[in-house]
Order: sequence, then structure tokens, then C-alpha cells
Amino acid sequence: MSTLAIDIGGGSIKFLTLSDDGSVTGDAQARPTPDPATPDAVITTICEVADGVEVYHRVSVGFPGVVKSGVTYNAPNLGDELWKAVPLKAKLEQRLGSRVRAVNDADLQGLGVAEGHGVELVLTLGTGLGSALFTDGRLVPNLELGHHPFRDGKTYEDLIRDEELKRIGASRWTERVIDALDELERLFNYDELHIGGGNARHLQRDMPAKVRFFSLEEAMRGALRLWD
Ligand code: BGC
Repeated sequence: MSTLAIDIGGGSIKFLTLSDDGSVTGDAQARPTPDPATPDAVITTICEVADGVEVYHRVSVGFPGVVKSGVTYNAPNLGDELWKAVPLKAKLEQRLGSRVRAVNDADLQGLGVAEGHGVELVLTLGTGLGSALFTDGRLVPNLELGHHPFRDGKTYEDLIRDEELKRIGASRWTERVIDALDELERLFNYDELHIGGGNARHLQRDMPAKVRFFSLEEAMRGALRLWD
């Protein structure tokens, strides 16, 4: 069984194929996210890449917004209006002729890294701020922490997103992330905090003891767990 795992991000769409034991088969691929990121444009990009993949039997998609039963509700970094009530799973199944599951991107990555004990929070630092919450390995789906107030009338995502890292530099941004983690630890009392996403590498300080970093490759094993 080969699973095509797709991560739709604000900057790029990433593709990996995984075998049942979680090992990556073939080369990882990435395509720039179309601009504007309309459902048609995104689906066409996915189909173009999928057509070139030699073998896959099912497809798992991580989407950067709220997804329920394979239908998208919003996508702050792609265009909320574009993605209101889009049956992403059904559309992809039709275009690809394969079984598809689609969930929030941080939820999918969290499924790949959560260890199954106690309260685990997962954060992805990228174009936006993704979040996922697990209790004893069970996912609380669609936790949208990024859009909650953090400080100065701004949300966590407003202050931690990629644009802010570029604007204020890695050192100030790191301090902000540490402040956010303090706040989140008081809120969730998590036992473990998993941090991933392309910008995690810009953190310039040692992190608190409960933090564990993960790679995209590791996290994309969530594409297999999605079918458990
Ligand atoms: C979205 C989340 C998503 C995150 C990372 C946020 O803007 O609201 O659903 O997980 O970006 O892509």
C-alpha cells in the first residue's frame, strides 16, 4: 500500500509517497502554491504532480484551514472566501480516481508526531501558525489557536507568522515565540509540545524542556495514521 501525502501550504504544496511502515518512497516534490490559490488552481496543481507519481493507492491531504468531513470551511492564508464549503475530498477523489482523506494541516502533522500520552500540543511555524491538540493520543480536531488574541489586540498568528519573522528578525521573533509558549503552557498545561514547520529552524534559543522538534517527513506519517 502506497500513500500519497500532500501538504498544502501558503507558499508551496509538498508531496511525499509513504509505504506502510512509514518510510518515504521516491523523491519528495514541491510546487509553488498557485496565486490566487483558487480551489481549481490548487486541485489542478495536485493532479499534475499526482499524475507523475508512479504508484499510489490512496491520498492524504493536509489543508491550511478548518476541514470537516473532507469539506473546507476557511483558509486564512489562501483566501477565506475562496474556500468556504469546498468539498475538497470529493473533488480530488473524482479527479484522481483514488480514495482521499483531507484534514487540517496541523492535525495531519500532529497525527504523525503525537506519542499518545497525556496532553500534547503541536505547533507548526510557517506562513501561518498551525495548532493541534491531543489527549492520550486522541485528536481534538480543528484547534485554531493561531486566531486567538495574544497581545496588543493581535492574534498569535498575527505576531508569529512568517511575515513577522521577516519583518522583525529571528532574534526578536524568537523572544515572541517564547512568550507565546509561556502563555500556552499556562493555558493547556501540556505534557509535551511538538514544534515543526519551516520556520522552526529560525528559533535562536534553547527551548523549554517540554519542547520537541519534528521534521515534515516525520510529521507526514500522519498521512498513514489518518486511515487507522
Ligand atoms: C489556519 C490553520 C492552519 C495554519 C497553518 C492558519 O491560518 O487557520 O487552520 O493550520 O494556518 O497552515
